[in-house]
Amino acid sequence: MREEDVPVYEKFLAGRVSRLVASEVRELLKLTEGKDVISFAGGLPDPSTFMKEELAEIAREVILRSGDKALQYAPTKGVLVFRETLKGFLRAHGVKVSEGDDVIVTTGSQEAIYLASKTLVGPGDIVIVEEPTYLAALNVFKFFKARVIPVDMDDNGIKTDILEEKLKALKNEGANVKLVYTVPTAQNPTGITLSFERRKHLLELASQHDLLLLEDDPYGYFTFEAEKPPPLKTMDSEGRVVYFGTFSKIVAPGFRLGWALGPWKIIDVMELAKQNVDLHSSTLAQYICMEAIKRGVVDATIERARHLYKAKRDIMLRELEDHMEDLATWTKPLGGIFIFLALKSAMDTKKLLPEAIEKGVAYVPGQAFYVRKDGSNTMRLNYSYPTPDQIKTGIRRLSTLIRDKVT
Ligand SMILES: Cc1ncc(COP(=O)(O)O)c(C=O)c1O
Repeated sequence: MREEDVPVYEKFLAGRVSRLVASEVRELLKLTEGKDVISFAGGLPDPSTFMKEELAEIAREVILRSGDKALQYAPTKGVLVFRETLKGFLRAHGVKVSEGDDVIVTTGSQEAIYLASKTLVGPGDIVIVEEPTYLAALNVFKFFKARVIPVDMDDNGIKTDILEEKLKALKNEGANVKLVYTVPTAQNPTGITLSFERRKHLLELASQHDLLLLEDDPYGYFTFEAEKPPPLKTMDSEGRVVYFGTFSKIVAPGFRLGWALGPWKIIDVMELAKQNVDLHSSTLAQYICMEAIKRGVVDATIERARHLYKAKRDIMLRELEDHMEDLATWTKPLGGIFIFLALKSAMDTKKLLPEAIEKGVAYVPGQAFYVRKDGSNTMRLNYSYPTPDQIKTGIRRLSTLIRDKVT
C-alpha cells in the first residue's frame, strides 16, 4: 500500500484518548529490558508465595466436577456462591460487611477503582488523595476529569488536620468535594499506615462534609506486626466507605480478581458500568478462588507472604541503615511491599534513573506518584520480588551511585 493511502488514524481517535496517559513508570522501566538489572521498581509478589500444587489440584477438580458452571458465563456482579464465600472471608479478616452492603467481583482491584470512578466522578468533581498516592488510581481520576486535590502525609498517614482546613476552604468556595481516595494500610508507594486516631478523624470529616471514602486495601491482609488499625470500612457506621480488595497479593495476580464492597446503591450502579466493560470477571477464576478460600489456601498464601515479606523488609531496612544512613531517610512499613526513600541532597531521582540502570539497579522515581510534582528527590523501592541477595547487592549499588554523586 502506498503511504498516502494509509488512513490518518489520529483523526479517528476520540477526544478523550488525550487523557489516557502512558504510565511514566512503565516507559522508564523499559530501559531495564535485556540488562542485568536488580529491579526494586515493580510491585510483583514473590512467585514462591503462589500455592501452585494446591491451585493446580483445585483447578482440575473445578473444571472436571463443576465445569458446566465454572466454564460458563456468570452474573455481572460475580458468581453468587463465590460472593457469599468472599463476604465470609472478609468478615474473618476483620472487614465489616453491613446489612446495606453488597459486593461486586472485579477484574483486579484496578477495575474496581475504574468502575467506582466511572460511577461517582464527573468533570470538575473534587477527589482528594494522599500525596503521594497510587499512580494508576490518579490516572483514572484524571481520565474522568476530576479536580484532584492532594493532601500531604507524614509517618501517620494523610494529615487530617490539613484535610480539615482544605475541606473548610473548599466549602467556602462552594466546591463539590465528592470523595477521598485512600490506601490506609501499608500504602503504595510509601508503605505508610494511617493511625487509628487519624482514621477516626477522617471518618468524622467524611460525616461532617458528607463525603464518600474509597478505601483501597491490597496490603492490609499481610501486615507484619500484631497491632494494626482496623479498616475504615469496619470503623464506619454511616455507610460512607467503598472498600476495594484484591486476590493479587494473596493468591496470585494472574487470576485478575478483586472486589468492591460497599453500599448496594453504589455497587448496583457499578454493576451497570461493568456490563459495558467485560460482562463479568472470569468465572473459572472465581470458582478456583472460592475453593482456595474454603480449603485454607488463601490463608496459607497470606502466611507465606507475611513471613517472606517481613524477612525481606528487614533485610532492606538493615541494608539501608548500613549503607545509606547519611544519604537518605526512608519509611518503615508495617506491611505491604514498598519502602519510600527521600535523599537528603536535592538530587533528581528521575534524572538519576538511567545511570542507576547502567549500574545495575532500578527503582521508581517518587515524583511519578505526586499530584503537585513534588518529591523529585524520592524513590519507591519494592522488596517483595527481589531475592534477599539481590536486595543486598541492589542497595549497595544504589548507595555507591548516590555517594559518588554527593561527594
Ligand atoms: C494501591 C493499589 N491499588 C490497586 C492495585 C491494583 O491491583 P490489582 O488490579 O492487581 O488488584 C494495586 C497494585 O499494585 C495497588 O498497589
